[in-house]
This record gives sequence, structure tokens and C-alpha cells, in this order.
Amino acid sequence: MRLDKFFSSLGLLSRRECAASVKKGEISVDGITVASPSVHIDPEKNEIFMRGEQVLWKKHMYLMLNKPAGYVSSTEDSERTVMKLLPPEYEKAGCFPCGRLDIDTVGLLLITNDGALAHELLSPRRHVSKAYRFKCTDPLAEESISVLENGVDLGDFVSAPAKVRMNPSSDTDGIIIITEGKFHQIKRMLASVGSGIEFLERIRFGSLELDETLDRGQWRELTEKEIEDIRNTRSSVEQDKPAN
Ligand code: URA
Repeated sequence: MRLDKFFSSLGLLSRRECAASVKKGEISVDGITVASPSVHIDPEKNEIFMRGEQVLWKKHMYLMLNKPAGYVSSTEDSERTVMKLLPPEYEKAGCFPCGRLDIDTVGLLLITNDGALAHELLSPRRHVSKAYRFKCTDPLAEESISVLENGVDLGDFVSAPAKVRMNPSSDTDGIIIITEGKFHQIKRMLASVGSGIEFLERIRFGSLELDETLDRGQWRELTEKEIEDIRNTRSSVEQDKPAN
């Protein structure tokens, strides 16, 4: 890999900035100051230093964000995209939100620059399950719950069976688990049984659980274990473990 590509894929230096840094003698490879930004390096083997600090190589980046309301899950050039909640290096390194949450939906969002993994996780073939905590505007009767659990005809598609677990002390609050990711899916499913949604929070995406110690708007990198587990994610409503 070219040295300038190494720095740009980490979101640290643009090609021009890398050339300027090389010119100033700020970058070394295995202890030797480099003379050209086009020099080829092996990021897994060579030791790269910039301004006396080692630059560690990460092929892909994986973050979890606790999305607050009021932010859109896209990379579009808007003031209120979720990417604005992260240091700019991540967007420069090609990170993007894996899937979408509505502007008023809060909770777990995976942010990565691993396009192949995102593609797999979002593929309808994979049936990756997602759990949401919800509060609806109207009490949910037993019959409504069975409608949701059997699949609802929403006009353009019939939803796959969902799993609904009501909070024992409430007929409006619960957890719903779905394996699809259609636009406004849960809102539309609830609307079909006569209720609106007052609050929607994603608490699990495949194997990845929302870290409840993160406040809204906070993020952290995934642990090695979380990365391994999400790479192996293959779940369905039937196989689902209890969400909370
Ligand atoms: N379903 C919705 O209706 N909205 C979301 O943001 C996610 C799932």
C-alpha cells in the first residue's frame, strides 16, 4: 500500500497533507525518514511513525453510537447527521452508519467502514434480528400482539412474524423484535393495529447490544469480542434469546 493511502484510509492525512508531512521529514518507516509519499509499505509489518508517535494500522473501524433524537442516520452533507457526533477522522476513513434509524428513533447504531460486513448485515437474506424498546400511544390488546406476531400486510409487503414482549406492568410499553429493516417498519406495523409510537429505541442489532453506559450521543469502539460476534451474526426471531 502507498504511504499516502495508508494515512488517508485511517482518516489521518489527506494525500496532500501526507506529501507536506513527508517534505517536513515528519514520517518514518522502520526508523528511516521517508522521502516520498508514494513509497510502498506493508501496514501489517512496517512500523510507521509520524511526529515521533507510532501510527497503528486498523483495516476496519467499528463503533457503536447511542443515537439521540434529532439526527439523521446518513452521511449526507447536513448539520444533523449522526456522523457529526463523531470525530471527523471516522468519516474521512470512510465510516458510515450501518442501516438507518428514523430521526426520532434513538439507540444503537453501528458505524463502520467495513462495507462487506454492512452489506451482509443489511441483506434481507440474512434476517438479522433487531430489538427495539417501544412505547405506543394506545394500549396493545392481545389480538393486536398476535397480529404483529403473525405478520402484518402493510400493502407493499407482509412483515415477517415479529416477537412482542410487553412490559408486565404496562399495556403500552414493551420490546419488539423484527428481522427486517423496511422504512418506518415498526411505526407502520403499530399503525396497522391502531396505535402510534411515542418512543422507539433500538437496543440490539444482531449480536450487538446497546451499551447502556453510553449516554445519548456518546459512542465507543467495539471490543474484539463484539466485532467477532457481529461478524458471525446470523439470527432469526425464532432463535432469539430474550432481549432484556
Ligand atoms: N422502525 C421504525 O419505524 N423506525 C425506525 O427507526 C426503526 C424501525
